[in-house]
Amino acid sequence: MLLAALLWTALTPLGTAVGEARFGSLAAERPVVGGEPARVADHPWVVYLTDRRGEQFCGGTLAAPDKVVTAAHCVAEQRPADVRVVAGRTDKNSGAGTVTELAGIWTHPDYGSAYGGADVAVLTLRSSLSRPTLVLADEQDDQLYRPGRTATVLGWGATSEGGVPADVLRRAEVPIRADSECSAAYGGDFVPGAMVCAGYPEGGVDSCQGDSGGPLTTGGKLVGVVSWGIGCARPGNPGVYTEVAAYADSLRARVGSRG
Ligand code: ARG
Repeated sequence: MLLAALLWTALTPLGTAVGEARFGSLAAERPVVGGEPARVADHPWVVYLTDRRGEQFCGGTLAAPDKVVTAAHCVAEQRPADVRVVAGRTDKNSGAGTVTELAGIWTHPDYGSAYGGADVAVLTLRSSLSRPTLVLADEQDDQLYRPGRTATVLGWGATSEGGVPADVLRRAEVPIRADSECSAAYGGDFVPGAMVCAGYPEGGVDSCQGDSGGPLTTGGKLVGVVSWGIGCARPGNPGVYTEVAAYADSLRARVGSRG
């Protein structure tokens, strides 16, 4: 996660064409500075996912005691037995919190790839967690998606484009952007009504690789799920998030009505 950051003033030319660099294939050529550590105590519903080797690979949000909302692209290729949910652990190197196995993985039936929308999944935990949950945005929550509104994104992902994942949870504040601006940036890859994008026109603050599946939150609700971008924090390339309210119906059916 890149935070409250300033881009290095003299930008070196990028070695790879922008259009090719979607999922972090690009080396870090634009150092980003700044950042803001956060604590799970202040965001008790934020969790991360680990693979068979115990490596963190995505984020998630506890939406019910035994349900985690994440991105479909995080878990579409995974078997429940190979994924764990880590809750209550700000620092990956600590033993704090709980590690829970999965009973099941549901990915949205319309999901094909992150660029097609429906990049959302619900994990069912083997045992319920006694932690606060985050309410999901729904059809009534238009105002939470108003362009210019500030939202908070959280994750343990890379702190610079092409960089390594963070050990400690980080947070950043990013403004929600108008669908028209997201479409202007990404053309047909941005699907209004399925995605929302957020970030400053000048870049500098963004989610990044490893943050996928994690929460974008405002007004006390989960409004977005980290989905994709071109590089991280580049000017003119806001981060793209699954629009949670657009999937309220199917999420309610999986998570329950209060979220
Ligand atoms: N796809 C990435 C992941 O799997 C998330 C990328 C988000 N990129 C961005 N510029 N906001 O972790």
